Amino acid sequence: MPLFRRAKIINNFDLIVDCTDKLLSNWSAMPSHHVHCDIVRQCQNLLLEIFGLISFDYNLDALNEYDSNHNELTRALHVFMSSCALVFYSPPIVGTLYTHLNYRHRQAKAIIERHIYQLMDNEMAQTRESRAERKRTCLIASLVASLQEDEEAEAKKSEDKKTGLSRAEVLQEILAFMVAGFETTSTALAWFIHAMSKYPDVQNKIKEELMSVSVNQNLTLNQLDSLVYLDCVINEILRFYPITSGTVRTLTADDRLPESNFQLNKGDSVLIPFYNLAHNTQHWSIDTESFAPERFLDKDKNHHPYALLPFGGGHRQCIGQALARFELKVIIARMLQRVTFGDGGPKINSGGHFTGLTMQPKHVGVTIEFS
Ligand code: HEM
Repeated sequence: MPLFRRAKIINNFDLIVDCTDKLLSNWSAMPSHHVHCDIVRQCQNLLLEIFGLISFDYNLDALNEYDSNHNELTRALHVFMSSCALVFYSPPIVGTLYTHLNYRHRQAKAIIERHIYQLMDNEMAQTRESRAERKRTCLIASLVASLQEDEEAEAKKSEDKKTGLSRAEVLQEILAFMVAGFETTSTALAWFIHAMSKYPDVQNKIKEELMSVSVNQNLTLNQLDSLVYLDCVINEILRFYPITSGTVRTLTADDRLPESNFQLNKGDSVLIPFYNLAHNTQHWSIDTESFAPERFLDKDKNHHPYALLPFGGGHRQCIGQALARFELKVIIARMLQRVTFGDGGPKINSGGHFTGLTMQPKHVGVTIEFS
């Protein structure tokens, strides 16, 4: 997916800054003593807005959620994502019944389909030259470029003879990108905000690093790249918090585990538990239960490669990881240039997590002070 390589991603620097500024402006309109308890939702809206613009060239207007004219697609996506989580963790029969019978889910899906088909039609209406150009920078254009010319004729062919993607398949791809692409990053951001309210020393160090590269509030790409401590903090967020608990692989042949000689058979599913690996004291020198970004500069710099797998590994590892890291770094740098997150109190900011598609912080209540 060349679209998600760094060379393409960095073109979105200003776009990410602008969207972050929009959220900051929403926050600045609130009274200074206000405790923000809807951080998870706010982060979702920010990442959704960014993702819509980057991938689909489409303004979901997600940051104006509380407007009465708020985009119906954004609302439908929130409903769809919450039912995805339910379906994901339920036995298949329950998931099928739920998606067929639940009126809100069916309505949300219909709205999403209508909008995505509209996006595809808009793309098709572009000139051939413009489509060829856009294909290199825009996900929807790239997917539309793989549409079958004659869907009816393709449908009559056997699976191995078919070429291109049908409209329904492109729709599924787009939905998969949406599901994989925004809630993961927004969950990481929400954990970051919670962490800053709990670890003010870390927050101060990021601010110091920011000040050392840029005294005014403009930040260039080169300056962003030089923020080494911030990279460590992002790694520590991905290690310390259970954003995705793990992944599964299914064996395509019989095999044995190397050390224990444990027999595994073709067809067996193996769970790879990221959170447990990241907290396994065997693999880390510094206490795994301390939030210590410095570990990545120091004793745990050369940790075992499989001890930290927030984006999975191998052929099916996350294709959006460079984008996710870039989004997080730009957003965090921009936020901490302007605000300080404070602890809203032991009860409302007690953390914990609930399991949606990702493991989201449950109780986040932070103050946001502008400097
Ligand atoms: C902090 C943010 C993110 C985290 C923690 C994350 C995590 C993951 C994980 C654990 C997997 C499974 C990998 C495996 O089984 O080895 C995955 C797959 C995937 N991710 Fe991400 N992801 C993030 C952001 C993104 C973004 C921004 C996008 C979209 C551009 C994206 C698109 C995908 C896709 C399409 C797959 C499926 C790849 C495949 O099955 O071949 N992810 N992600």
